[in-house]
Amino acid sequence: KTEALAVHGLMSDADVIQRVFDHIDNNTTDLADRVWREPVTSYLSDKNFADELEVFRRLPTVFCPSAALPKTGSYVARSAAGVPIVAVRGDDGRVRAFYNACRHRGMMVAEGMGKVGAFVCRYHAWAYGLDGRLKNVPGDQGFPDLNRDAHNLISVRADERGGLVFVTQKEPLSEGAMAAVPDLLSPDQELFDFVQMHDPANWKLVVESAMEGYHIKALHPKSFYPYGFDNLNVVETYGPNSRLVFPFRRVEKLRDIAPEDRRPDGMLTYVYHLFPNARVSMLSNHHQLIIIEPEAPDRVRWDFFRLTPPARDGKPADKAGIAKDADFVKETGLVEDREAACSIQAGLATAANTHFTFGRYEKSAVHFHEHLDANLAQLRQGAYEDSRSES
Ligand code: FES
Repeated sequence: KTEALAVHGLMSDADVIQRVFDHIDNNTTDLADRVWREPVTSYLSDKNFADELEVFRRLPTVFCPSAALPKTGSYVARSAAGVPIVAVRGDDGRVRAFYNACRHRGMMVAEGMGKVGAFVCRYHAWAYGLDGRLKNVPGDQGFPDLNRDAHNLISVRADERGGLVFVTQKEPLSEGAMAAVPDLLSPDQELFDFVQMHDPANWKLVVESAMEGYHIKALHPKSFYPYGFDNLNVVETYGPNSRLVFPFRRVEKLRDIAPEDRRPDGMLTYVYHLFPNARVSMLSNHHQLIIIEPEAPDRVRWDFFRLTPPARDGKPADKAGIAKDADFVKETGLVEDREAACSIQAGLATAANTHFTFGRYEKSAVHFHEHLDANLAQLRQGAYEDSRSES
């Protein structure tokens, strides 16, 4: 794994731990090169929101963990950037994705998660293979001229990288997060929970909520702060993505261990942000994939996948430890992050701010906004050039 991370320019565990000790000793943290001022209109504007959705559709975005598709016929149906999509593992082991719309009269052919031999539409039972081909039309004499080949499910590009499934709905602006994703999740990890939650907040407020440790003492005084540090992070960027390390106070136990023998398990939380709207958090006893789906300028959906950790030294994960750790994070610190995002959204009505300022402690958020801005500019430039060539 260290080798895979090095390919993406990310530090090894041993180097991260040494850097954490340096920050503890010097009372420092990693810093951005610059301060970022984000106009408040970008959280409110319908036009900006529409452009953001278009950026999402024109980048590979994380759709689900590979662990949600363990077998032939395993599928996940959810909406991505407002568009219903179903991803499924085929007979050949490959993951494919399709627009989740029957080619008869458009009903979705799958809901939630499960395992099927074929997708059979609930409305009139048209059936599609795992490769999307239309296989059966009940009473097909009622459709005398039907060209079946023209009525397969419509494909969406799907790629599997680093234990994650990405979908790309339209001609991509770039390979985005996928070009730089390391191996994050391993095949022995199992999905043990999936929930969706809604909040009245712009999606960026939720993304930003896990991008710095500057808020740990103030917002999480009884949940995360007693175990961690305030404003002490290692923050690296890789492509448009970033990785934050949140050390636990117990990392001090590693000081007396030779650097090459130091293990990060239970000592550090790694949070990998995958541009624009996903993050993988590696917690003490479980891993989370959170996909932050914009539903409206002031409404967001959390698609929250929880996975067992990789087997350690050949030993499977401790189930009781997983449940305790997972519920603690979800019921305490995450609730506080959600409250902050919703409070900011409500406060937008005051018009007190023309901009939000992200300081040098907020390096990952600065990097996120730089890339979102660059993608929006690229999209708008393309639209401008298209309109000029048409006129
Ligand atoms: Fe699917 Fe009719 S809409 S079979």
